[in-house]
Amino acid sequence: MQSKQRRILVTSALPYANGSIHLGHLLEHIQTDIWVRFQRLRGHQCYSVCADDAHGTPVMLKAQELGISPEEMVEQTRAEHQQDLQDFLVNYDNYYITHSPENKELCELVYNRLNENGYISKRTISQLFDPEKEMFLPDRFVKGTCPKCGAEDQNGDSCDVCGATYSPTEVKNPRSVVSGATPVLRDSEHFFFDLPKFESMLKEWIRSGAIQNEMANKLEEWFEQGLQQWDISRDAPYFGFEIPNAPGKFFYVWVDAPVGYMASFKNYANKHGIDDSEFWQTGNDTELYHFIGKDITYFHCLFWPAMLEGAGFRKPTGVNIHGFVTVNGAKMSKSKGTFIKGRTYLDHLNPEYLRYYFASKLNDSVTDIDLNFEDFVQKVNADLVGKVVNIASRCAGFISKKFDGKLSNNIENPALLEEFQVAHNAIAQAIEERHYHKAIRDIMALADKANQYIDAQAPWVTIKDENKQDFTHDVCSMGIHLFRILMVYLTPVLPSLSKDAQAFLNDEFTWDSIQDIKLGHSINKFKAMIQRVDADKVNAMVEASKEHLKATSQGTEKASISEAATSADIEPIADTISFEDFAKIDFRIAKIVHAEAVEKADKLLRLELDIGTEQRQVFAGIKSAYKAEDLIGKHTVMVANLAPRKMRFGMSEGMVLAAGPGGKDIYILEPHSGATPGMRVK
Ligand code: MSP
Ligand code: ZN
Repeated sequence: MQSKQRRILVTSALPYANGSIHLGHLLEHIQTDIWVRFQRLRGHQCYSVCADDAHGTPVMLKAQELGISPEEMVEQTRAEHQQDLQDFLVNYDNYYITHSPENKELCELVYNRLNENGYISKRTISQLFDPEKEMFLPDRFVKGTCPKCGAEDQNGDSCDVCGATYSPTEVKNPRSVVSGATPVLRDSEHFFFDLPKFESMLKEWIRSGAIQNEMANKLEEWFEQGLQQWDISRDAPYFGFEIPNAPGKFFYVWVDAPVGYMASFKNYANKHGIDDSEFWQTGNDTELYHFIGKDITYFHCLFWPAMLEGAGFRKPTGVNIHGFVTVNGAKMSKSKGTFIKGRTYLDHLNPEYLRYYFASKLNDSVTDIDLNFEDFVQKVNADLVGKVVNIASRCAGFISKKFDGKLSNNIENPALLEEFQVAHNAIAQAIEERHYHKAIRDIMALADKANQYIDAQAPWVTIKDENKQDFTHDVCSMGIHLFRILMVYLTPVLPSLSKDAQAFLNDEFTWDSIQDIKLGHSINKFKAMIQRVDADKVNAMVEASKEHLKATSQGTEKASISEAATSADIEPIADTISFEDFAKIDFRIAKIVHAEAVEKADKLLRLELDIGTEQRQVFAGIKSAYKAEDLIGKHTVMVANLAPRKMRFGMSEGMVLAAGPGGKDIYILEPHSGATPGMRVK
């Protein structure tokens, strides 16, 4: 049935190594994984790679805050991400990291070729510089008063109040988010990539079918505004790769990140004797696809193809762009508990529910995908439990009890069977074109037909009639054949359920299994394959996501800001909390009985606090403001009912509220008459 075997390389965008995988990321990984599994099931050669995006200022600052080296932090995060993805049954051939020797070498190669071909130039620019931290500040690390409307505390590049966009040098009363210092302007030489030279090539490429039309139209608008030279260098201190022959100058993270696709595949290819160059050199019949979210289109549809072309490599066959996940119709929100981490989901729910739900909603457009919890519960229960698995559970019992576990040698309804088989064309085309929602709709329409067939033949009635034993055997076998075909179609979406079905059917699926009907075949005893979704578990997951914010709010939020702003990653101010929420916080007077610096942590002090009834250990990020020895004997207010949190250096059993200009001048609480440890603060 198969035509020529295709040779395909697929990637998903590389998650930043400074935050957890959340349901927004998972939409992309699940979309990719379904496509890859589908290609493999069809017998094509399809490699898939991903990695953590390790470099850049936010990663560097977060590692400093945690008091560990960036290398150590990104490796920890990489391992966590890989485990999360595996547990969602997302199987990359390689999940690597951009901070790797392969990537360094490839970045240098790409850069040197671009340079030799005359696409790199240098010029001096003036930028805001943090004189305390001694570093240049990315736009997102400057805050100040909006130059247009005067609103205070706005981002360095845009105003949330009036919507204006501007350069950080225009901001009034600017301050560094990193240190609070007032930034100064400083000159530095930067390296630029000559993007405008690629304009005609890019215009042609975006209309070549490589990207969706709606995105091609959007890109046309960018062309109208005119392509600009792209600043590809950053000054030290920067966590990244140094530019060849340019000490103290580093590649901007967005240069080495896409090259990371090549590097991850090279790392895999070298271990498995694969010639990776066939996927990157021009003139091969291999295919290359990148799955990405709409926020990073500019990087993948302008910079990246231009870099590839300029360095003599092939361009992507396709960049598949998806929209953003919303939850119950709104942007994911930490305070509502709808900013859900992959791990929190897994603590409560089966990963295949989410795979199925996303599949039932995904198409090839960039419109956002809403995860509506009511719909989620209803759809999973009605479709997977009520329709698909139900077919098997209605027929299997009779086969094993009455017919010796063997399917019959007859096909009771050949026309119906053929209808199920013929559907493969439309379903395959839908998955190939990323109209997963259409494939799921077709599969569920067939599942309805199978159930109607069983309803009409009523094997539970005919089984009681001595003269209808063969008929009953044929009907139940027919039900199993239909179930089997549906499970072949669902294999890319529900790999684990499919595995259970294959064990039950004593079979191994390929896409062609649907043509090969198992007459007289022995099957195994039916075991329950999937549980209903319990709405309480969904609620518990949302609650736990709210908890999470409280437990991790000890100063790490700021550093999770990413340079490519995604609506999910940046939430400068949390939603308001109710008075009831506020009243839940148990503030107590605590006496600092011991304080010491934490080795290897830039900002942390380890405090021992006496709260009257007990002694607590708390790690507080206040080392830059207070000397440990000055704190001993002082009083402070602590949040006594914060869930304990395991930190790298030990358990933190609460949070202290301290404020002051630093040094000896501490306005925490001086011991005064009447304030005794353990006293509740009202
Ligand atoms: N590190 C860059 C990508 C470099 S690729 C060479 C990055 N990382 S990210 O962690 O912010 O996002 C990774 C992917 O997840 C992107 O494709 C992004 O669009 C996607 N998503 C992040 N939040 C999302 C949602 N809320 N919904 C859907 N996808 C989202 O960008
Ligand atoms: Zn404004």
